[in-house]
Amino acid sequence: MTLSTSTHLTARSRSNTYSKTPKVAIARFAGLKSVGVAPAASVSFKSRSVALAASASRTACATATTAGFKVALLGAAGGIGQPLALLLKMNPMIETLAVYDLADVTPGVAADLSHINTPCKVTAYKGQDQLAGALAGADLVVIPAGIPRKPGMTRDDLFNINAGIVKSLIEGVAANCPNAIVNIISNPVNSTVPIAAEVMKKAGCYDPRKIMGVTTLDIVRANTFVAEAGGVAVSDMNVPVIGGHAGTTILPLLSQASPSVAVADPAAMTTRIQNAGTEVVEAKAGAGSATLSMAYAAARMAESVLLAKTGEKNVVECTYVESSLVEGLPFFSSKVVLGPEGVAEFLPLGELNDLEKAGMEEMRELLTKNIEAGIAFVADNA
Ligand code: NAI
Repeated sequence: MTLSTSTHLTARSRSNTYSKTPKVAIARFAGLKSVGVAPAASVSFKSRSVALAASASRTACATATTAGFKVALLGAAGGIGQPLALLLKMNPMIETLAVYDLADVTPGVAADLSHINTPCKVTAYKGQDQLAGALAGADLVVIPAGIPRKPGMTRDDLFNINAGIVKSLIEGVAANCPNAIVNIISNPVNSTVPIAAEVMKKAGCYDPRKIMGVTTLDIVRANTFVAEAGGVAVSDMNVPVIGGHAGTTILPLLSQASPSVAVADPAAMTTRIQNAGTEVVEAKAGAGSATLSMAYAAARMAESVLLAKTGEKNVVECTYVESSLVEGLPFFSSKVVLGPEGVAEFLPLGELNDLEKAGMEEMRELLTKNIEAGIAFVADNA
């Protein structure tokens, strides 16, 4: 099943008590009007998260969470996994957080988190034979499992190890929670998402609305850098980033920044956003890649997915999914409206300027190669 630009999918409203949380605004990107989606009041993700976290601590004595979701975090003991688990523990929509990893420290991570006085219950699963328990009944599966980059490595250099890890974890999803929404963080995202799609297809349970590559960190970085350059409050800034999540496939649409900012050297700003991950890899000097900013970005994405599952309207994120938006690129990251079943609608790319059009052409070859590598990996490793 392939979704088209104008696909509107039926929203299944989850019966829950989400209405207990403060109503917050969701839309972060300009352009909603163009597809008839009413623009939401502009409260940023920062404010929204603060509201949710505050709500979590205010309801610390409560026995129930506001929406009753189960989230499984695979790779929970790692550099991203641990701070991400902390942020998820603070999300009042999550009733159960299943932390899964191969590392011996996993039960300790869960024990540590479980002492925090927020309603979310934390359960630990260590080792392959406990994967099924972690996944059973999950509404959302978030995957940061895999090795990170060291200086001098590209995301593609991670392929050989991470492709196999993602394949086996998605086989677990297919067997234990085929209807869950999946957020894939493990690199190379440009290939791990097609891998996940192929695995789900083979298992007969592929729903393209539900398999999402997490590119949110590119948006978070673009928002920060562009706001700094323009002297705009960072929490107000929205910069869509499209394409993929590696090198030149990361294409920020600076011309669509909202509020509009006149960036002095858009080509240099584009390169900085594309290389921001490498900036962190080099600064950490062999001790890993982005973990804290990634945890923040993944928590934002998870929160958006869950909000949409409660029936909240106008939840817009950029995410790397199966897409028919750009001819010849069957997986592509762009702005989508999220709904209870995952991607509900693709928003148009909007007008691109000459620099952005050139960026679209430049990414084509690499992104195609990355997608094909993912598909071939599953075919070759049946
Ligand atoms: P890390 O090495 O600190 O943690 C990875 C964790 O995965 C470890 O705890 C390890 O035990 C676990 N793991 C390995 N194989 C597993 C398996 N089969 N099942 C369950 N757990 C398993 O790495 P870090 O820094 O947390 O990065 C994780 C991944 O996220 C890397 O692939 C990295 O490239 C990617 N990443 C993605 C970003 C994005 O924007 N999408 C940004 C930054 C990193």
